Amino acid sequence: MRRGECAGWVLVTGAASGIGRATALAFARAGANLVLVDIDDRALQKACDEVLALGRDCATRVVNVADAKAMADLARWVRSEIRIPALDVLVNNAGIGYLGSFMDTPVEAWERVLQVNLMGVVNGCRAFLPDMVGAGGERRIVNVASLAGLVAAPNMSAYAAVKHAVVGLGESLCLELKLKGAQVGVTTVCPGIINTQITKARASVAASIGDAQYERLTAYYAKQGGRPDVVADAIVRGVRQRRELVLVGPFAAPLYYLRRCSRRLAQRLMLQDARRVGFV
Ligand code: NAI
Repeated sequence: MRRGECAGWVLVTGAASGIGRATALAFARAGANLVLVDIDDRALQKACDEVLALGRDCATRVVNVADAKAMADLARWVRSEIRIPALDVLVNNAGIGYLGSFMDTPVEAWERVLQVNLMGVVNGCRAFLPDMVGAGGERRIVNVASLAGLVAAPNMSAYAAVKHAVVGLGESLCLELKLKGAQVGVTTVCPGIINTQITKARASVAASIGDAQYERLTAYYAKQGGRPDVVADAIVRGVRQRRELVLVGPFAAPLYYLRRCSRRLAQRLMLQDARRVGFV
């Protein structure tokens, strides 16, 4: 993969919905073939049909990214069935949300968010990075973190903590690969609020958040949220331009830079916003 190119084989996790599905289609439009991974088999097939309709090759695998062994098996499957020495781009996107105050976040929710949102990224990198480094040539890992991984909001301590970890993992790995002289780069993507299915699962909201407030939250996401295809286009552009940090979607860049200039002002805005959606 040379600068400006996005051809070859791209694997996207969480590809059945939202940002993952849009990213798969954006890479297909840019000339890439796709391996789509998710736990939702039916929606995965639909996404695959959309990629095939764009004239690209596409394969699907139902894999839970939190399962290290299943991810290692997936890497073996890619080698033997797709018959490529290594992926050109790996997009670790699969993720779940969790909204609720720290005291209302049970340990099971912490474990779920940690397993999917952090260990999913770790498992993806562990499974595919050795081949990507070994095969040589320019390749890239894209980790979808969040604006919450750079600027934390109240009532998402588990999600924000884990997304901060994804940002830290990306920074450290990126430096390590440079130190080794490897041609594999790392892009960390931090989207602001995006209107997808992520907030629509009741299991991703603390039980203490009542139905009325839950409806207010989903309405807020629907009204304020950016479009997944805008994130997808930013990811493809970020890969083409070898960007290490991609800030995209509502509030992402302004809040990131504001927080760097004035932590107090950024906090005031986060608190105002939390009060607007009914968190007191
Ligand atoms: P989504 O809910 O629309 O899509 C997530 C996909 O991941 C679904 O197809 C789901 O089945 C899949 N998935 C969930 N757990 C999985 C697992 N264990 N193994 C394999 N697949 C799994 O959500 P969205 O919004 O597209 O989220 C994608 C990524 O973007 C996540 O990492 C999320 O944290 C991140 N993000 C989302 C934002 C938003 O406001 N929607 C903002 C910032 C980051």
